[in-house]
Order: sequence, then structure tokens, then C-alpha cells
Amino acid sequence: MSSDRIRLASLQSKVVSAAEAASLIKDGMTVGMSGFTRAGEAKAVPLALVEQAKTNPLKITLVTGASLGNDIDKKLTEVGALARRMPFQVDNTLRKAINEGKVMFTDQHLSETVEQMRNYQIPRPDIAVIEAVAITEKGHIVPTTSVGNSASFVQFAKQVIVEINTTLSPDLEGLHDIYIPEERPNRTPVKLVRPEDRIGTTAIEVDPSKIVAIVFSDLSDSPSNVQPPDDETQAIADHLIDFLKKEVTDGRLPNSLRPLQVGIGTIANAVTSGLIKSPFTDLVQYSEVLQDSTFELLDAGKLKFASASSITVSAACGERVFGNINEYKDRLVLRPQEISNLPEIVRRLGTISINTALEFDIYGNVNSTHVNGSKMMNGIGGSGDFARNAHIAVFVTKSTAKNDAISSVVPMVSHVDHTGHDADVLVTEQGLADLRGLAPRERARAIIDNCVHPAYRDALNAYFEAASAKGGQTPHILKEALSWHINLEEHGTMLPR
Ligand code: COA
Repeated sequence: MSSDRIRLASLQSKVVSAAEAASLIKDGMTVGMSGFTRAGEAKAVPLALVEQAKTNPLKITLVTGASLGNDIDKKLTEVGALARRMPFQVDNTLRKAINEGKVMFTDQHLSETVEQMRNYQIPRPDIAVIEAVAITEKGHIVPTTSVGNSASFVQFAKQVIVEINTTLSPDLEGLHDIYIPEERPNRTPVKLVRPEDRIGTTAIEVDPSKIVAIVFSDLSDSPSNVQPPDDETQAIADHLIDFLKKEVTDGRLPNSLRPLQVGIGTIANAVTSGLIKSPFTDLVQYSEVLQDSTFELLDAGKLKFASASSITVSAACGERVFGNINEYKDRLVLRPQEISNLPEIVRRLGTISINTALEFDIYGNVNSTHVNGSKMMNGIGGSGDFARNAHIAVFVTKSTAKNDAISSVVPMVSHVDHTGHDADVLVTEQGLADLRGLAPRERARAIIDNCVHPAYRDALNAYFEAASAKGGQTPHILKEALSWHINLEEHGTMLPR
């Protein structure tokens, strides 16, 4: 087993227990770990670190690709081991600690973290912990179900711990395309012109002498927790597919559309699933994460190719895909998130990007991250990398949350992640607003007429009419603009009283 998975014989002596490897992580270190959208994270070493922290308290800066599975963020938070966390998370316990100010959370565009490390704007990792299916004859690291920031972490870190996951087939080798952009200021264009292009290597190159420990693990990725479509998510998918059909009929898009980027979550998954029954053919994805719906589309012959940085799927889908990876490998590629989310490539390919908003306002500004303006939900993730540069930037959300106590369409967003300049199309279960080319007053009309829940429509109309009477390019009544959020904070509902 050891020689199959560690093909460079001189590294076989580096195999240690997870506890021994975890003891290399010291108080105050910046640790770069694999893991993106709860896929491909190092598991045994951080869990051993949790055990050690119970008797030997320490605080680290933890930098990953994106969110982690296996409750790793939760457990590290509970033992107080996180001083700082970046660039994304989705864990309830960590979220609470962030919002209490106990963990400093640096919320970043997912394409930017390693670029900032490369330029010494943020600290480089002291140590990298990377999940792998194998180490090659040259000592290079073959990642698992995500690539995330792993390649750059390995390049920047002084020491590397490799965690070999024996639950995954070594046949995953060949799935990945590892390319790290050249240094600035003389960087040449990243030569990726089609989603299926391979421009790098199949393993992460590393000087084998940096690999200080190798751990075997038999822990699996956490299964995705995406819910099946409900009536509202289905309605959102239907509105968007009708819009795309019209773009094709009007000659603005080909029947194969443009490369699709679809964010994580239930709504986005429902939209992608909805494409199965659509007339579009020969679809491709240029995304950051692939969910179950990608494999439904591949199996149905609708999707030709999918490029991303991770695969986050349900247990059943995972068995089907990773159990038969050779059947999928020529239609899939996993890349570093710096490449899957690279603005240069997103703009070049002209993606149709579909991401979920918490709320948007009548002028199309989007809040993806902060509940009621101050409490962090997850983070901006890749939504900004894509929305700013997409051919069509779509944001979807249900028109209300928490049993209609919250309207997701508000006079003014309580926090801005994407300005109206970066949102082309907004969709709720109520309908779709196509904002392209519209001035703010026209945008407001389109949004109020199409996207707002009936319980809030009159109030939003009244706000817009009163603001418009006052005047301005983007009319607002500042005293009232956030009154819906204040009402929510004070009375538990935005509903007009
Ligand atoms: N105010 C307060 N809470 C709101 C809300 C609003 N306007 N709109 C939704 N919510 C709540 C929901 O009630 C739900 O709460 P619950 O977890 O207690 O049930 C939660 O937010 C998630 O909403 P849901 O409708 O289930 O959608 P989701 O799981 O797709 O998550 C985001 C939505 C916005 C939180 C999520 O998509 C995200 O983190 N986006 C930013 C990152 C991103 O876009 N990455 C892109 C590529 S992966």
C-alpha cells in the first residue's frame, strides 16, 4: 500500500501518525490547508491538532481554499485554536465566534489569497497540510477532490505535511491541472482559452525535501447537504431558463450558451438541474465547484465538459463519480482556485455566472455576506471573481426569508458585496429583472415589478415613488433607506407595521 501511494521510495520513511504530524504545527503559525467547498480538506492532521490543543493550547492563522468539511472549523473553534481564518467558511460555530469578534475572519475573493501571499501582502504559510491520493516518483503531490490553494501553499510553505486519503482511488491522478501564474510584473497571459484546456501538470510540484511528514487517513469528505429543489427554487430555475431561451431566440447566445459558473447551494443546484429539461445542448461549465447537478447533466449528455476547483457531492453521487472516475476523467478538470476564478479567464470565456444573494436592493446592489448589515454568513467566496467579469452576471434568491419576516428585496442593501454595475440579471421565484443597459430608476421599476414578494410590493413601490419625487440619479430617502432592517432588528420582521 505504502509503495503504491508513495512512489518516491525515499519518502516512505516520512510516514508518521497524525498526532506526530500535528505536533509540527506550533502556536502562532500560519497554516495553509487543502480544502475547498468541504471537499479535499486535510482531515486526520487537523483533527489530531484539535486533540493536542485540548492539553496544549495554541492559536494559529488558518488559511484554506474555502470551506472545510468533517466539522474541522467547528472543532478548531471549540478548542480556541483559531486566531484568524481566511478566506471563506460555512460553519455555524465558527460563524458565531467570528460574529462575537473571537476569531478574526478575513473574507476574500477566492482568486486573491495566494496572489497576496505571492506578493508578501499577507503572510505565507509556515506549514502546508495537503490531502493527496498519491505522491509520484518525483515526490510530487496528487490532490484529491479539490485543488483550492494547495499548489501555492506547497510552493510558499517551509514545510509540507501530506495526508494520503486511502478511501479515494489513485485513479484520480490525471483529473487535476496544476498551473501557477508567473510572477508580476512580467507575467504572460494565462494561456487557457477553452474550459477544457490543460495548461499545467497533473500533480503539485514540490522539492521532496520539504515534505516533513506523511500521514495515512481513511476519512471521507462530508457529503454535500444540498436540499432537493422546492417549488420556489424550481420557479427561480424556470424563470432563468426562460430568459436564456429568449437570449438564444434573439440571437444573443448560441444554443450551447456560454461556459456556466454556478455557485454552491440549493438554489444554484436547482438551476443547474433544471437545465436537463431545457433545449440547450453541448453545455460546458467553467465553475469553482461542481455539485450533483453537474453529474446529472453529464450523465444526461447535456454537458460536454466541466472545469472547477472542487467536487462537492452527495454520498450517492460521490460513489458514482469517484467509484468510476475513469468514466468521467476526460470530461472533467480540477484547477487551482486562482485559475478557476481568474478574472482574466472569466472575462475571456464570457461565463454566465449564477450566484446566490442574501438580499438585493431596488437599484441592483447585492449583499451576499452580511445578515442585517453586520453578521457574517459565509463570505463572498468566488461570487465577486465571477460577477464582475461575467458575460451575464445573474444573482438569484428567494424573495423572502424566515417565513416572510424578511424581504430579500429592500430599499437599500445593508452591506454591499456587488454593486449594481456588476449585476445584470436578478431572479426570485416571483420573476426576473433584466437590468442590462438600464438607468437606476428603470432598474428599480424592473426589480419592483418582477422580483418582490407581494407582501412587500406596495411598501417598496411607496418608497421608490417618494424617493423619486425627491429626485436624484439614484433616488433615496436616507432616513428610511435602512428602516426595513431597523424594523427587523427591533421587531423581528420587515413587514410593514
Ligand atoms: N436576510 C437574512 N437571512 C437570509 C436572507 C436575508 N435576506 N436570505 C436568506 N437568508 C437565510 C436563509 O433563511 C437561510 O437561513 P438558515 O440557514 O437558517 O435556513 C440562509 O440564509 C441560507 O439561505 P438559502 O436560501 O438556504 O440559500 P443558500 O444555502 O444558497 O445560501 C448564501 C445563500 C447567500 C448564504 C450563499 O449562497 C453564500 O454564502 N453566498 C456567498 C458566496 C458565493 O456566492 N459563492 C459563490 C460561488 S460558491
